[in-house]
Amino acid sequence: MDGKVKGFNTKAIHAGQKPCPVTGAHVTPIYQTSTFVFKDVDQGARRFAGEEEGYIYTRLGNPTLTELEAKVAALEGGEAAIGAASGMAAISTALVTLLKKGDHIVAGDALYGCTHSFISEILPQYGIEVTMVDTSNLENIENAMKPNTKVIYVETPANPTMKLVDLEGASDIAHKHGAIIIVDNTFMSPYLQRPIEHGVDVVVHSATKYIGGHGDVLAGLIIGPKELIDTMRIPYLKDFGGILSPFDAWLLLRGLKTLGVRMDRHCANAQKVAEYLEKHPLIDKVYYPGLPSHPQYELAKKQMDGFGGMMSFELKGGLEAGKVLMNSVKMITLAVSLGCVDSLIQHPASMTHSPVPREERLKAGITDGQVRLSVGIEDVEDIIADLDQALKEVEKQTM
Ligand SMILES: Cc1ncc(COP(=O)(O)O)c(C=O)c1O
Repeated sequence: MDGKVKGFNTKAIHAGQKPCPVTGAHVTPIYQTSTFVFKDVDQGARRFAGEEEGYIYTRLGNPTLTELEAKVAALEGGEAAIGAASGMAAISTALVTLLKKGDHIVAGDALYGCTHSFISEILPQYGIEVTMVDTSNLENIENAMKPNTKVIYVETPANPTMKLVDLEGASDIAHKHGAIIIVDNTFMSPYLQRPIEHGVDVVVHSATKYIGGHGDVLAGLIIGPKELIDTMRIPYLKDFGGILSPFDAWLLLRGLKTLGVRMDRHCANAQKVAEYLEKHPLIDKVYYPGLPSHPQYELAKKQMDGFGGMMSFELKGGLEAGKVLMNSVKMITLAVSLGCVDSLIQHPASMTHSPVPREERLKAGITDGQVRLSVGIEDVEDIIADLDQALKEVEKQTM
């Protein structure tokens, strides 16, 4: 199936899916079991020795996860994939596999708050050297490289600055220095951006977001070359233990089937919302890669198949005005997370990016007044009407 089918939506529905050989069930069941029965002692021993294929224990593999991993690898254009318990489980597993005491990592300075603190605070405790730079400028990456640099880690678009990284350029730098580049593709999903096609080695996701899509699951994914993914799975994921549950893998399988149609709607809605906000007299700046005012608009058109549903913006009245706006929305939900069918609004400085020290946040372009909006797939007129009434409230309370 995968070899013959080219279209993304067709792959999202069919890749990895096989009818159950026992019952004929069309949709893959949730194999909600912790362990698998061996025929006899010798078979158990062969499976543990890797001499016979087959399941042993769900922490090492499970049929529902196997289907998810095959589908995700096909969609990202990678050889293999791993499902993990959360985006952070995926990110930390990928990094601890690739970095050892004495190694160096170059990472973006604008990253999801917990990724930022994992890299800047936890990795150094294990003897790993860290340099964080503005990776939207390739020169900064090149200048940060050292003989012991093993990994470049970036988000593009970055959370929440919406700065982009030139994937081809950054991959070339990594490979020239014998390093591996990891890209967090959460904001785009494989429907809008496939970093491996641009030379990237490893892709990670918080599948909690667009891949799940409905705000009801916490999950992570790692996609990359089979040999490397096999090492990440055994021993690292096996021994750290952050695996995905079969039920959550099944929710992702369901979410993936509609990823394309959802992303088209997220993009169309976000474009209209960004244009509305950019024209509004109370708004100072809008950061959305689909606006010609975005400094990397040309790069966005080159490496992304759509501009996505995420944006951030600043009000002329700063933090105070932003707070009034976030407290005044009625349909849009005040909550962290993103990539959900519902529109979500939040304040990075005090919420998602609060683990990042203020000075570092400001240096990375995450201001105190910045508001992040994840545009959902509701009717766009309703999203804009909600923002419009909230902005009227801002005018009333702050002017
Ligand atoms: C870009 C990005 N990467 C990773 C994560 C972490 O994912 P999770 O919450 O599934 O652990 C998040 C969470 O918001 C995120 O926004």
